[in-house]
Order: sequence, then structure tokens, then C-alpha cells
Amino acid sequence: MSGSAKRSVTITLDGSNKSSTLPLLDGTIGPQVADIRRIYGDLGIFTYDPGYGATAACESKITYIDGDQGILLYRGYPIEQLAEHSSFLEVAYLLTNGELPTPAQLRDYEMGVLRHTMLHEQLRQFYNGFRRDAHPMAVMCGVVGALSAFYHDSLDINNPEHRKISAFRLIAKMPTIAAWAHKYNSGQPFMYPRNDLGYAENFLYMFNAVPAETYKVNPILAKAMDLIMILHADHEQNASTSTVRLSGSTGANPFACIAAGIASLWGPAHGGANEAVLKMLTEIGHVRNIPEFLSEVKDKGSHTKLMGFGHRVYKNYDPRAKIIQKACHDVLGELGIKDDPLLDLALELEKIALNDKYFVDRKLYPNVDFYSGIILKAMGFPTSMFTALFAVSRTVGWISQWAEMIEDPEQRIGRPRQIYTGPTQRDYIPPGQR
Ligand code: SDX
Repeated sequence: MSGSAKRSVTITLDGSNKSSTLPLLDGTIGPQVADIRRIYGDLGIFTYDPGYGATAACESKITYIDGDQGILLYRGYPIEQLAEHSSFLEVAYLLTNGELPTPAQLRDYEMGVLRHTMLHEQLRQFYNGFRRDAHPMAVMCGVVGALSAFYHDSLDINNPEHRKISAFRLIAKMPTIAAWAHKYNSGQPFMYPRNDLGYAENFLYMFNAVPAETYKVNPILAKAMDLIMILHADHEQNASTSTVRLSGSTGANPFACIAAGIASLWGPAHGGANEAVLKMLTEIGHVRNIPEFLSEVKDKGSHTKLMGFGHRVYKNYDPRAKIIQKACHDVLGELGIKDDPLLDLALELEKIALNDKYFVDRKLYPNVDFYSGIILKAMGFPTSMFTALFAVSRTVGWISQWAEMIEDPEQRIGRPRQIYTGPTQRDYIPPGQR
């Protein structure tokens, strides 16, 4: 742990003379953390934090979020500046290596990715095992997990070269795997990656092109795709990243860990929210139905959520949502889509919610998923592909966080404890006496 301990916090057990003095560790920015590792030894108690809302599970130098201020930094660089000036592969270099690359370093990194965009031909057969209507996330979980059956040459997680080539393979192959999942759904032939295209451009090519004719990627869409990938690349210790870290802490290979992250991201409370937002907007249908929908959301018994709103950390506007909302207008305008009814509905829904006491009191603001689905739909992606695109981008964050954990001298297998409220010990009852 590189945080220094100048201060401490002492916990005293009521009705006893026992106390535990816990060092308070400082990060570079953000709240101090109480190092509670000695609390069980000192006081014989565990701490309880379901959902880990107040628990720092690790030390990290990769991404910083200030939820109250709506700040997001990748290795210290504000997301707004990276969105405006950088590219997804430059951000991938930054997240994995810690610094912005020189032009020569970026060229080498891009070449490293390009050299691994193809899939083993046996993996093409793997797709045939799925139903044609398989959800792309189901395919991504299966195919990415299967990669560990193909790369026995680089599964030693303690070998830095193996970690490096596995990162290149995962970052490079995710667009191919996702694009082929869509082609499989649509019954069209797979398109092989082209190394003369940029990362986002290559993905759009594999997603949209057919062998029967030449296909030129719209540069506006390629730029928008690259921006969307930058915004989704990493986000501190979110549920799917924590899943990757916990899986990796057992020594599991990186392909299996990323497959676990994909499974976790799929949930509608997490990365599946972008798909759920489109479904919600379609069900609301018209601005006149917003008040009735919001009444249903406020009725706890309905279990209806305003999808794309709220966040465990952001209690202010998600900075990514602001950037995507602007990109929505730019892309729709550049595509000649004058008024997109879904975007109009989303803007009105946001305006009403942000002035509604229920949402204001609970500090519920739009998150990254509220607008991403609208721009992805305008770009021609089916709703079922939205979370798969999130997974393509977040693979950079997952593999960066995984590598940081493996290289952390303090890392050990993750093994949370519990508060047990089940039956105390009791004897077996023979079936005839139950
Ligand atoms: C992502 O962690 C990350 O960083 C994730 C992510 C990333 O990049 O990795 O940012 C990506 O997952 C964004 C979030 C996408 N999910 C959604 O948009 C789904 C809708 N949002 C909610 O399900 C919810 O806001 C969560 C899951 C995101 C957060 O859940 P919390 O932490 O339990 O929410 P909270 O503690 O802030 O809730 C406070 C109150 C509660 O009501 P009360 O019990 O106080 O009366 O607000 C309510 C919640 O019920 N609430 C909502 C709501 N979100 C919270 N009510 C209606 N609609 C919502 N969307």
C-alpha cells in the first residue's frame, strides 16, 4: 500500500476495554481510507458493507471519480479533455501503461493491436453452436471464455510478456468477436478485420460490410464510435471490474476473467442499462405519457426504475452523459436526422425528472447509459448490441485493472466474510420424523 498513514481512527468496543487503532491512509486525491485489516484480531468483529458502498477493495492508480463534483479522470486526465483530443487506442495505451504515448509509442501500440485482430479459424465454428437469435452478450461470454482454450502459450499470469500479449489479444479481438456475433444473428457472412483501418473504423467495417460489395465507413460514425469507446473504457471499481479483479485474484487466466466481467456487465443495473433505456423510451412512447411513467417509478411497489438515471457514485451529472448528449446532437445532425423522437423524448424526460423532487432529493441524474443507446440506435446498431459495444470498450479498463492487481505486491485472493443469521448447529432428522 503506497498510501501514507499519518492519522488513525480508534474503535472502542462498548462494555469492554478493547479498542482497535486503525491507520488512516491518504491517496493522492479523494477520501482517506481506514485500514481495517487488524479489526478482527483486535476486536473479534467484522465490518458490514453490503454492496461495498463504503469499502475500498484495492489501491489503484488508474481511474478517479469524484461523484459529488461529477469528475472522471483516467490516469489524472479529465475525461472531457480525452474525449476532445485523444483516440480510443491512445486512451487504451494511457490506461494500460500509465502515461500518454509518444507518437512512436502509439504507432507501436496500434501495430501490436492490429497484429491480433483475427480469430483462430476454429473459433468461427464455435459460433455455429449458438442459436441464430442468441443475445450477443451470451455469445461474447462464451467466445471470450473459449479464448483460453486457444492460447496455452500465454496463460502464465506471473509472466509480464504473457500479460502483455494477452492484453493485446483481448483488446484486438473484442471488436471482431462482437461484430461476428451481430453477423451470426443476421445470418450474414463474417467479415474479416482489415489492418488498414483504425480501431473503431475496423469495427464498423466488420459490423456493416458484406462480401458482395465494397463498403466505406462513414468517418462521422467512426469518430462517434471512437468517442463512445473512450467514454466507456474504464470507471474505477464498478461491478464488472470488481468481478474481473475477484476472478483474477484466484489466479484464473485473463480470458476467463474478462468473460466473467462480460457476464457481470450484462445486468440491467450495470452495462445492460443502455439497452433497458431504449426499451423504456419505446414503452413510454410519447411525451404525454411521461407523468404517468414517473408516477409508476415513484411507486416502490412497481419496481420500475428510470433506467439511465442514478449511480452508486455520481450524485451529480455523470460527465460522460453530458459528452454523449452533445455527441447525440452532432451525430444526428451530421446524419441528417432532423428530429429523433427518441432523443426528443429523452430530453423532455430528463428535463422533467431533474425538476422533480423525488429525483432531486435522491440525487438521481442521467448516467452514461441514458443517451448512449440513442446515439447507437441512430448509428444503426440493434438494441441487443448496445451492451456488447460497452464490453468491447470496457475490456481496456478490465485488463488494465486486472494487470494492476496481479502486479500489486499486496494482492491476495479475494475472500469477503459475512454476518451469519442462519440456524445454529442442529442434528440431522430422519425423513420419517420430519
Ligand atoms: C453503469 O458503477 C459504475 O461505475 C457503473 C458504470 C460504469 O461505467 O461501470 O457507471 C455503468 O452501470 C451506470 C448505471 C446504469 N444503471 C442504470 O441506469 C439502471 C438504473 N439505475 C439504478 O438501478 C441505480 O441508480 C443504480 C443501480 C445505478 C445505483 O443503485 P443504488 O446505488 O442502490 O442507488 P442509490 O443508493 O443511489 O438509490 C437511492 C434511492 C433509492 O430510493 P430510496 O430507497 O432512497 O427511496 O434512489 C432510488 C433507490 O431506489 N433510485 C432510483 C433509481 N436509482 C436509484 N429510483 C428510480 N430510478 C432509478 N434509476
